[in-house]
Amino acid sequence: MAVPGDKSISHRVALFGLIADGPCRSTGWLDSEDTRSSLEAVRRLGASVTLDGDALTVAPPASPPRAAVTIDCGNSGTTARLLMGILAGWLPAGAAGVTLTGDASLSGRPMNRVVDPLRRMGADITWLGEPGRLPLLVRGASLRGTDHVLPVPSAQVKSALLLAGLFATGRTAITGAGGSRDHTELLLQGMGVDCDAAGGTGELAVTGPVRPGPLDIRVPGDPSAAAFFQVAAAIVPGSTVTSLGQSLNYTRTGALRVLKSAGVKVAVTRPFGAPGGEPAGDVEVTAAEIVPFKITAPDVPALVDEIPVLAVLATQARGVTVISGAEDLRVKESDRLAMMASNLKRLGAHVTELPDGLRIEGPTALRGGPVDRPVVFETAGDHRIAMAMAVAALVARGDSVLDDEACVAVSFPQFFMTLEKLLPPG
Ligand code: S3P
Repeated sequence: MAVPGDKSISHRVALFGLIADGPCRSTGWLDSEDTRSSLEAVRRLGASVTLDGDALTVAPPASPPRAAVTIDCGNSGTTARLLMGILAGWLPAGAAGVTLTGDASLSGRPMNRVVDPLRRMGADITWLGEPGRLPLLVRGASLRGTDHVLPVPSAQVKSALLLAGLFATGRTAITGAGGSRDHTELLLQGMGVDCDAAGGTGELAVTGPVRPGPLDIRVPGDPSAAAFFQVAAAIVPGSTVTSLGQSLNYTRTGALRVLKSAGVKVAVTRPFGAPGGEPAGDVEVTAAEIVPFKITAPDVPALVDEIPVLAVLATQARGVTVISGAEDLRVKESDRLAMMASNLKRLGAHVTELPDGLRIEGPTALRGGPVDRPVVFETAGDHRIAMAMAVAALVARGDSVLDDEACVAVSFPQFFMTLEKLLPPG
């Protein structure tokens, strides 16, 4: 199967085009609702945007806007959080500023994890509603390089602070983001910015002010999108799926390591380096007898978005699987621990919700409902819950439906088409 372009990298190509010293170009760009939020944001801020199929070019404006701008970040935490870091230093002091809003899900998610450290750098950010939540107003300010220790190993927070650090005077250093996806630092390095990763200490630093140069990359396939089909291949007896050209970046391949530890056959058949510094390759996954697995806090950053579908895998493992250290899943697009526990229970799975994870005992022959009374999965409009439950439905006897299919377009508009193509006829 062709894997859609990586969502995290696609957001970054769009957002970095606003502040680079020349155009940011990519092929393989993911066109989805989420990445469109970033694209529309930079367009409103004056960037020129050309999207031709999967080829995107974003060129920076001559100067940042002085008039008030309002940006709807939609469902996208990456747009809101990375943009905050950029705007805090990029906007000129004295300009009217930029208001960031989001949909109901995004407006319920914590923003103080970015705003608090940005304020310590001197950022001028005002809550316009409930403190800690969108909407908020960012105005330009002079930023100072600052040392940060992150309480949550979040790539979004790390990225926002690195981006603010480009505009700050002096050195901005970040610790505590260990293991989180490193696309921001890889891309910035490719754009000529020294993000010095101090010899194995897990610290990351940038010294500003510094303007990144232009960018021209091929976006590799998204491992978080491929994971739905890889788990499907693992649990549907007799199946094999090959994901073409997916990212093999170590900070994104935690789900492949879990699949292997669960006894599934995983083979990289064509490793290559995608232009832009990301390792990539074709990955073949073949069904097997599933054994229970364990996910603990240090594993989480490299598979944070794959936990819903790995919970589906656990229902088919012979024994007890425990997922822990994953409390941040409660503040994603939905409370993903609660959503997966309740939806899997609807199919008869033995799931216990833990404060920071899930305990799942398998294997369970999952059961939907009769044709006239199918089991209804609640998605809360969360794309990853919808796709994970669609995978669970593949091995459930009986009928089930999603309360919202359209939400998959947030990250994977062709999800159902891809699924249909992979299923045997009939
Ligand atoms: C992302 C980082 C992760 C991930 C999200 C995308 C990114 O969030 O869940 O889907 O592109 O940086 P956190 O960094 O908050 O864990």
